[in-house]
Amino acid sequence: PLVTSKELFKQAYEKGYAIGAFNVNNMEIIQGIVSAAKEEKSPLILQVSAGARKYANPIYLKKLVESAVEDTDLPIVLHLDHGEDFEICKQCIDDGFTSVMIDASHLPFEENIALTKKVVDYAHPRGVVVEAELGKLAGIEDNISVDAKDATYTNPEEAREFVEKTGVDSLAIAIGTSHGAYKFKGKPELDFERLKKISKLLPGFPLVLHGASTVLSEYVEACNKFGGDIPGAQGVPEEMIKEAAKHGVCKVNIDTDLRLAMTSAIRKHLHDNPSNFDPRKYLGEGRKAVENMVKHKIGNVLGSSDQI
Ligand code: G3H
Ligand code: 13P
Ligand code: NA
Ligand code: ZN
Repeated sequence: PLVTSKELFKQAYEKGYAIGAFNVNNMEIIQGIVSAAKEEKSPLILQVSAGARKYANPIYLKKLVESAVEDTDLPIVLHLDHGEDFEICKQCIDDGFTSVMIDASHLPFEENIALTKKVVDYAHPRGVVVEAELGKLAGIEDNISVDAKDATYTNPEEAREFVEKTGVDSLAIAIGTSHGAYKFKGKPELDFERLKKISKLLPGFPLVLHGASTVLSEYVEACNKFGGDIPGAQGVPEEMIKEAAKHGVCKVNIDTDLRLAMTSAIRKHLHDNPSNFDPRKYLGEGRKAVENMVKHKIGNVLGSSDQI
């Protein structure tokens, strides 16, 4: 069934695992993720960005997710990723999403609170949960200074005040992750001391880690081997994701790893089969790669297997 993340986060928090929130925008990606979650018996969050809605058309996306829900008895959350204003959040709530993110992290603190509160006030009476964001995800920079961290990473005291004043259900925090395939130039580093402080000030409250792809080297290497050009791609080490899950992080956002799995498999297929022009063959390989990647992620990194 389609569910909110309320109970899923509660159990994840208590047991110290995290639930994968996977970005979806087409049928093969959805099918690959759902097959993996089915095999692993894991709860699942499927999330849709504004860009995905634009690419696939909201109606098609919604029907694809409904098909996934019909295809399994897993608890599935349908979540709007990075909603940038009230209007898109409202549209998704009215459209049957069970969870929305309002991302007003670029706004000053008080304005972020006000906009988040406005979304919460619309969502809660309709049974929908809300994720917000406080702090800015870092770009790729070496040895970010203490001052720079204080300016961009989530301030623990502000996080507590933000949650109290908005009534938000979960909070995305900035501790050194970033979106995309190039997260670190040198040695990967996250600010775990900050995460621990935030979590201590918000006991029992679910935190969200964006930019949490691990950028698996097997897919990067396959992309590069079969005609791609993505040198220096680097993600968050698996051990760090596991550690974050022990300190209140209940939702781990993954998009880049899906893109890499899909693209590497398609590149390999087209390289090995130059005479094939049946999209089902290469998209099928992409779907299989997505399924394998997500199975590994759920079983060996997030720890959400056999939790339903
Ligand atoms: O946070 C960004 C997600 O990876 C979605 O990316 O905006 O290109 O759909 P997108
Ligand atoms: P990645 O780019 O690390 O996959 O992060 C995705 C994300 O945070 C979506 O909101
Ligand atoms: Na999100
Ligand atoms: Zn994100």
